[in-house]
Amino acid sequence: MRWGVILPMGVPHQATSDEVHKGYHIPQGALVMANSWSILHNSEIYPDPEVFRPERCFGDGCKDYSDFAFGYGRRVCPGRWFATEAVWAAIVSILASFDIVSSMDEQGKLKPVTVDCTAGAVSIPVPFDFDLRVRSPSMKELLAGL
Ligand code: HEM
Repeated sequence: MRWGVILPMGVPHQATSDEVHKGYHIPQGALVMANSWSILHNSEIYPDPEVFRPERCFGDGCKDYSDFAFGYGRRVCPGRWFATEAVWAAIVSILASFDIVSSMDEQGKLKPVTVDCTAGAVSIPVPFDFDLRVRSPSMKELLAGL
């Protein structure tokens, strides 16, 4: 949600009245794009912003990514609580069921994993190779019954 922002520039908003922000005149009707990616990669708020370090948000003092990742104002994403819980449920289910490991090349060496996301209105991870291994016989049995 912070590290690989799904909607890096949010969605377009429009000024409903003339505004002045930090000396800039924003006329009524102007299209306004909020740069969520920049906010969520601000090193003053999130030191080493390019590093995936979830523990940065353990305990107090972490600026909550959800203030930015889900948009702004009256049109803020109404699905944000559901989305947060659904992503959490998906991640813990996958981690409980599988070991996720780098895949091997023809020589049996681990392939390096490149971490990158696409550029554009919607940003998603670029494809990468990996192997999923079921973590236990009981989990294998459970999954086979689905
Ligand atoms: C990780 C998942 C999600 C992300 C990152 C996300 C992000 C966003 C963002 C940035 C906006 C634009 C808000 C703005 O105008 O500033 C938005 C709008 C919206 N989202 Fe989500 N969203 C997610 C999941 C969901 C889910 C699960 C639902 C429904 C169950 C949902 C329903 C909506 C709707 C209906 C709007 C339009 C609200 C409006 O314009 O009045 N979203 N979302």
